[in-house]
Amino acid sequence: MTNSVKKFVAPEHVAIIMDGNGRWAKRRYLPRVFGHKQGVKTVKSIVKAADSLGIKVLTLYAFSTENWKRPQDEIDALFNLLLVFLKKEFDELNEKGVKLRILGDILKFPQNVQNEIKKVCKASSENCGLQLNIALNYGSRQEILRAYENMRKEGVENPTEEQFSSFLYTQGQPDPDLLIRTSGEMRLSNFMLWQMAYGEIYITDKFWPDFTKEDLKKAVEEYNKRDRRFGGI
Ligand code: IPE
Ligand code: IPE
Ligand code: MG
Repeated sequence: MTNSVKKFVAPEHVAIIMDGNGRWAKRRYLPRVFGHKQGVKTVKSIVKAADSLGIKVLTLYAFSTENWKRPQDEIDALFNLLLVFLKKEFDELNEKGVKLRILGDILKFPQNVQNEIKKVCKASSENCGLQLNIALNYGSRQEILRAYENMRKEGVENPTEEQFSSFLYTQGQPDPDLLIRTSGEMRLSNFMLWQMAYGEIYITDKFWPDFTKEDLKKAVEEYNKRDRRFGGI
């Protein structure tokens, strides 16, 4: 870590909408899956970079409840890449103390993918380093309805904001301080609608496979220039 970074306050929770894998591949006249493959490499380097910047929670949006609309062969390729990531790449992150949580409903995923997810979550559950959330089959509206349903089952009436938050997938975690979206799209795409009430938004035109640790540092530096007023003056 360089001295210039140390001068900055690291956001506690950074969330990223990893977008632009398809366009990255298209630019190179390659099939979309090549972009996803390259995107996984970015994931690994950004998780490590977030950790060294002092970020405590990193959330990566990897598959939305709306992404089922994609062609089945692309969905299958994404599951395969996820499997490879969990089986071959996560070991190194586990050794660095990274703790994994999945945000979303994985029950619709192939059984072998579910098994691997459970295995890695369990293996990393005692880790004390970076909290890595991967949002899989995640949709914020689904998350809010699920929270409502679970609250109803537990007989919670008139919940406070804190009580409501404790029924979300991000239960026990701080809300994102900074949301990064790659590839220039200026929308939330059903991501963290509740948690992003006061989060800062940073959008870069870079495609996710081109996003580097220097880009992450740049986003954190930009975040440090923001005046977070939370409705005050
Ligand atoms: C983001 O890249 C990855 C997922 C949504 C799984 P895209 O696949 O959305 O890439 P573009 O937006 O088509 O370029
Ligand atoms: C958002 O990207 C979802 C993920 C990054 C997983 P999309 O590419 O699905 O979003 P839209 O369709 O451009 O809004
Ligand atoms: Mg996209």
